[in-house]
Amino acid sequence: MADPVRILHLTDLHMRRSLEGTANKPERLSRQMPDRLRDLAGRLDDLGVDLVLVTGDLLDVPDEYIDGSMSDPAERAEMTAQAEADYRRFKDLMDAMGKPYILIPGNHDDEALFDKVFDGWTPVQDKAGLRFVCFRDFLNSDRTPVRGAANRDLFDRVVGEGGDGPPQIHVQHYMIDPPTWTNLQYHYTDADRYRDRINASGCVAAALSGHFHPGSHLVSDTGVLYSVPPAFCSAPHPFRLVDIGPDGVLGCEDRSLLNG
Ligand SMILES: [Fe+2]
Repeated sequence: MADPVRILHLTDLHMRRSLEGTANKPERLSRQMPDRLRDLAGRLDDLGVDLVLVTGDLLDVPDEYIDGSMSDPAERAEMTAQAEADYRRFKDLMDAMGKPYILIPGNHDDEALFDKVFDGWTPVQDKAGLRFVCFRDFLNSDRTPVRGAANRDLFDRVVGEGGDGPPQIHVQHYMIDPPTWTNLQYHYTDADRYRDRINASGCVAAALSGHFHPGSHLVSDTGVLYSVPPAFCSAPHPFRLVDIGPDGVLGCEDRSLLNG
């Protein structure tokens, strides 16, 4: 890469439009998300954005659909159609932004419908002079984030690349650093291992995540940015601008739709 790249990072939209109702917490403004994405699209050029990144919970698919407890076939078929329509709406809104973009699903997304709509999705995507390595991980039965064997192998492979490839951006819904709890754990069970290897790798500029709605920001002593923007679903609809140069992160700035 020759010039710095500006990533606009937003996360946790919890959109519902064809899906009925709204997310279970009232501050999550699920039904406004299509309009807010259109508002964001109108600001990308003024903000100098090169690429848009969304780190999961694109939709707010009801828990009873995702966990299978909604078992009535007719009910499931109706909700499948609603969720698919919302993923297609989301894709149309992203396409209309006119910028390259990277998306991963979160724990409130349906993986199969995500893959149906975002056909051809791959975990390693070179865009805007950067290498985005995307990890689709999961929550275990006590809602602790876990990285499965295939993604652990992918991680080991890419951090072993050294400085040969483009600067890497690791993209995941869950957190690596800092360790973060409320009543739930937001970081991986083996987050220390990922943190230590990333910090020593010399090839990872940033690890960008979602899931923790208040947001988080940390820079390691080797200059790696660990960042979670506050959730876009809640006013003032925050997002984060991250500038990356050939030698790593140059800057990071919080903005929002309502406060500029
Ligand atoms: Fe979320």
